Amino acid sequence: MNLLKQNVAIDLGTSTVLVCVGKRGVVLKEPSIVAVNSGTRDVVAIGEEARHMIGRTPGDITTVRPIRNGVISSFTITKKMMRYFIGKALKNPFKRIFLPDVIVCIPSKTTNVERRAVEQAVQDAGAHRVFLVEEPLAAAVGAGLDISRPSGHMIVDIGGGTTDIAVISFDGIVTSRSVKVAGDDFDEAIKNYLKRTHNMLVGDSTAEYVKIEAGCLYEGVRNDSVEIHGSDMITGLPYEQTVTSQELSETLIATAMPIIDGIRNVLEETPPELAADIYTKGILLTGGSSQIAGFDELIRKTTGVEAVVADEPQYCVARGSINILNRMDKAKKNSYAAKK
Ligand SMILES: Nc1ncnc2c1ncn2[C@@H]1O[C@H](COP(=O)(O)OP(=O)(O)OP(=O)(O)O)[C@@H](O)[C@H]1O
Ligand SMILES: [Mg+2]
Repeated sequence: MNLLKQNVAIDLGTSTVLVCVGKRGVVLKEPSIVAVNSGTRDVVAIGEEARHMIGRTPGDITTVRPIRNGVISSFTITKKMMRYFIGKALKNPFKRIFLPDVIVCIPSKTTNVERRAVEQAVQDAGAHRVFLVEEPLAAAVGAGLDISRPSGHMIVDIGGGTTDIAVISFDGIVTSRSVKVAGDDFDEAIKNYLKRTHNMLVGDSTAEYVKIEAGCLYEGVRNDSVEIHGSDMITGLPYEQTVTSQELSETLIATAMPIIDGIRNVLEETPPELAADIYTKGILLTGGSSQIAGFDELIRKTTGVEAVVADEPQYCVARGSINILNRMDKAKKNSYAAKK
């Protein structure tokens, strides 16, 4: 075995990229944002550095999110972003000579064309062999579930662009659904709400800040307020406004409804024995947006099944992916590679 050869896991998310290396856990967490010069098409900054540029750069610099709803929307930029993140995660240049084996997670309903696009992008970004894992399986393993037994688990991974809902048993997905509603939609709903009720225009990061600091999906779970700055839609002048958890809940609950419908549909399609397991164990929530206050309560109230948010839910997919790759022995890796 080549000791210098590393296993790398990438959670290539709509909002965030996480990278795990070998047994070191998560070594990189950065926004999946790239700043591009719109004239020359050169990449100017990637990740955290690019995020700081949003709304603060001259007209010829634009920021791009190369992953949309969990799938690659810009192939060239995604490759550059991944090459940069893999290089940053494997700091020691000597180790970079031996290209790593890379596992990448994909949403459960990814088409074959999209799967090949992800594989190709990772290969071109500097991987020896590329392995794909479905996001809900990785999330379950990362949350510490034993999915190898014939017993049903339901995972709902609520990310930035997509919510992946899946029933898992015996190391496989029994039934699943991918709903294109997640964190970004809650931000958008807050922007629209502020326009409608306070005549206030705010940027994406302010809307996200309001969601994290005051967002609430179940009455009484949270009673916070935040002071924000935005511009008046009529005068264009900046002003300050206080926003409370209570006033936001109606619009946020309405935004969450397609996710609730998705969970109900998947539960309806679940064979009865597995449904009974899920009823006993509850639904496990992962992904950054599962942290919106009251999401677990809203799911319990609308589906009648308990829901629990995993520990550090934003890290589950990346941690699960590296566990899966670390556990594959050479024979298993070879047979996976041969199947492609
Ligand atoms: N404490 C928090 N409360 C509420 N929302 C949060 C919190 N922290 C992060 N988020 C939201 O979580 C989302 C990002 O989650 P995550 O990293 O799981 O998504 P992703 O994997 O990039 O997206 P996807 O899986 O859809 O491709 C963002 O919308 C972010 O605003
Ligand atoms: Mg994700």
